Amino acid sequence: MIKTIRNIALLFTLIFSIVSCSNKLYKKNQEIKQTVSLKNSFKDNFYIGAAINENQIVEKDAAAVTILKKEYNTISPENSLKWMFLHPEPKTFFFDMADKYVAFGEKNKMYIVGHTLVWHSQLAEFMKETKDSTIMANHMQNHINTVVTRYKGRIDTWDVVNEALKENGDLRESVFFKVLGDKYIEQAFKLAEKADPNADLVYNDYGLCNPKKRAGVVRLVKELQKSGAKINGVGMQAHWNLKTPSLKEIETSIIAYSELGVKVSFTEFDISVIPNPWDLVGAEVTQDFKKFEGDKKMNPYPTKLPESVQIQLAKRYEDIFKLFLKHEDKINRVTFWGVSDKDTWLNDWPINGRTNYPLLFDRKHQPKKAYNSIMSLKNTSN
Ligand code: G3I
Repeated sequence: MIKTIRNIALLFTLIFSIVSCSNKLYKKNQEIKQTVSLKNSFKDNFYIGAAINENQIVEKDAAAVTILKKEYNTISPENSLKWMFLHPEPKTFFFDMADKYVAFGEKNKMYIVGHTLVWHSQLAEFMKETKDSTIMANHMQNHINTVVTRYKGRIDTWDVVNEALKENGDLRESVFFKVLGDKYIEQAFKLAEKADPNADLVYNDYGLCNPKKRAGVVRLVKELQKSGAKINGVGMQAHWNLKTPSLKEIETSIIAYSELGVKVSFTEFDISVIPNPWDLVGAEVTQDFKKFEGDKKMNPYPTKLPESVQIQLAKRYEDIFKLFLKHEDKINRVTFWGVSDKDTWLNDWPINGRTNYPLLFDRKHQPKKAYNSIMSLKNTSN
């Protein structure tokens, strides 16, 4: 009798151990499943992130916010910190959305990007109208000082100056250049450093694989360094397409910038898969593209991206990420310019109302082949 009771007790212990063991195993698997993400996969290589819009900052766009929290460890504000929104009048600042943006990043323990302090586009009207150099210098000082000081120790890196160069590498004749002269970039970097000495300061631009522009950036960074200004990085926007720039051009640029002693960041990464009107009409940037609106040739995939192009996109992302991994010691972050294809700026630029597919998540917020191809480069059970 005692023996039978002992055997039954043993049997129960055995069943209990098996159940609890399999529970633990199930839990462990669940944890692994949950932690498989871009940010975890690339945690030893570089930060990985996305630009976020206002619906995401206020967490209205729940599907996108889920992706942001799970996949990324750095964010950039797509529009909310631009001068026209933050500082529309000389003495008026609106910090509501910017505060929420920074709070979102802090809550989710992210590396927070400030984009951007000095840019000729999305600038306040009063700046465009200012013709006096002392007045403009005061406005610029007030802007940089007020904004950077407000987020001192909270915004980790600033795109201090954005798009100051032309395609030939010379300084763009922007309103800043025309009124303040060629020293305005140095002044902007020095003001930012004074306001937050610990923030990483970056020069950000597009087309940075183009040899002439690359030479211009190298000159600019050297001049800044010579002047005693602090510059921590070059931001390559990386608005690319399926064919250009070539891997060779990208690699040459990473090496050239890194040889200056600064880190490289890919700050606005996306890969357009639909036709570029410049290929049709030449390189004249001021072309009016309104005539292409509704043109089926310019919007070839209005409902679905064909599988063959999906595969090309995945391969292109994979090749580029292989290169990023090869040069991981030179790269600080890789930020996608948007969360999903639903809200990419490329649906409306340079032709309004098209359907583009440049990011890693589709319009239903599902990971695309491109996501899997990038993840496949790393051990997915991290
Ligand atoms: O604020 C107005 C709003 O009042 C109005 O109702 C609405 C109607 O369309 O437009 C709103 O302005 C839009 C603005 O984004 C803010 O949402 C503009 O139309 C729109 O053209 C503007 O586009 C932004 C673009 O910069 C402006 O140059 C894109 O969203 C943003 O992704 C893009 O980001 C830039 C980077 O900052 C710098 N590098 C290039 C990159 C792509 O252009």
